[in-house]
Amino acid sequence: MALPDALPAPRVPDPMTAPSLRWGILGTGWIADKFTQALQAHTRQKVVAVGSRSQSGADRFAQRFDLPAAVGSYDDLVQRDDVDVIYVATPHNHHHEDALRAIGAGKHVLVEKPIALNAAQARDIAAAAARADVMAMEALWTMFLPKFDIVRQLLANGVLGRIHTVFADHGQHFEGDHRILRRDLAGGPTLDLLTYPVAFANWVLGAPREVLARTTWTPNGEVTGQTSVLLMQDDGAQAMLHSSVLSRTPTAAAICGEDAMIAFDPDFYVPAGFTVSDNAGASLRHDEPEVAHTGGLHYQAAQLAWCIAAGERSCTIRPLEESIQTMVILDEARRQIGEIYPEEQ
Ligand SMILES: NC(=O)c1ccc[n+]([C@@H]2O[C@H](COP(=O)([O-])OP(=O)(O)OC[C@H]3O[C@@H](n4cnc5c(N)ncnc54)[C@H](OP(=O)(O)O)[C@@H]3O)[C@@H](O)[C@H]2O)c1
Repeated sequence: MALPDALPAPRVPDPMTAPSLRWGILGTGWIADKFTQALQAHTRQKVVAVGSRSQSGADRFAQRFDLPAAVGSYDDLVQRDDVDVIYVATPHNHHHEDALRAIGAGKHVLVEKPIALNAAQARDIAAAAARADVMAMEALWTMFLPKFDIVRQLLANGVLGRIHTVFADHGQHFEGDHRILRRDLAGGPTLDLLTYPVAFANWVLGAPREVLARTTWTPNGEVTGQTSVLLMQDDGAQAMLHSSVLSRTPTAAAICGEDAMIAFDPDFYVPAGFTVSDNAGASLRHDEPEVAHTGGLHYQAAQLAWCIAAGERSCTIRPLEESIQTMVILDEARRQIGEIYPEEQ
């Protein structure tokens, strides 16, 4: 198929027009800060309360963002009547407990990626949300970015032809006592940076027939350092995925089809450009500023608000089944590389 004359326009509505929900922020770390900034700058969502393990932590966060309420307990946060939806921004191995805490209090919940430690926990969250008739969604913000809606349309229109290969990589350098280097906080790239390449490949290709994984541990053996994953699909397509906490890596991605290829500018998982090119050398270019987290975390929140207003209980852009499927792949990769977290022993 020839390339279209122009790229389709993204169909993502202006996040400012999403119905306003009252948000409670659970946890006051790095991503909670960026998420709250994005909400306050780009939406009409109301951040009405923050919960921390300590009153002083909650007070600091509330002061920084001028929030009306600060509570020194996650339980007190989820019980508040003035909160509609809880944003869980704790380390990976706390997502299950904190999501269930919110659901148990009858609140909708947006859970940071990955949705849980493993597929069993992810299924548990989905079942609890269904029983409580609330919305649970993984905060895989990448899938909600306007540029991915352009890609979604290119894939649906068959512009690439039969897809043979997906490449995706995400590496960053960490040192010191960052949670990603701590075994007790489920550190290593697998549940963190690798979530993006795996979710991306699974979105493009569907569930794989086979998963092959290899890792190199960090020098002190505390967590895995870099991991490569090969996904084999029933139709012969392959995904080559890599993630590291040892070095910065290109953090690039590509979808390669029989007729055309999409090459994403790094970092592929944030707002940034991409090029579609065909075998004859014709190309189309999408450009947008690479604005990273505070310029993109709000799209998922606006979408959640629209879904809730429409009475939906799973979001078509990041359905719970895809969050669970991502965990199934990561579970199998971890089984092969011998990466077992303390709470699974
Ligand atoms: N979407 C993205 O681009 C993105 C980027 C970074 C991180 N994340 C995800 O967001 C989650 C949090 O990451 P982060 O980088 O924000 O982590 P962080 O800076 O370490 O913050 C985590 C927060 O969780 C709370 N917490 C609860 N139990 C904890 C424990 N045992 N140890 C440490 N903190 C604990 C703390 O808040 P209180 O002290 O207030 O209770 C802490 O500030 C992770 O699951 C990560 O994958 C997503």
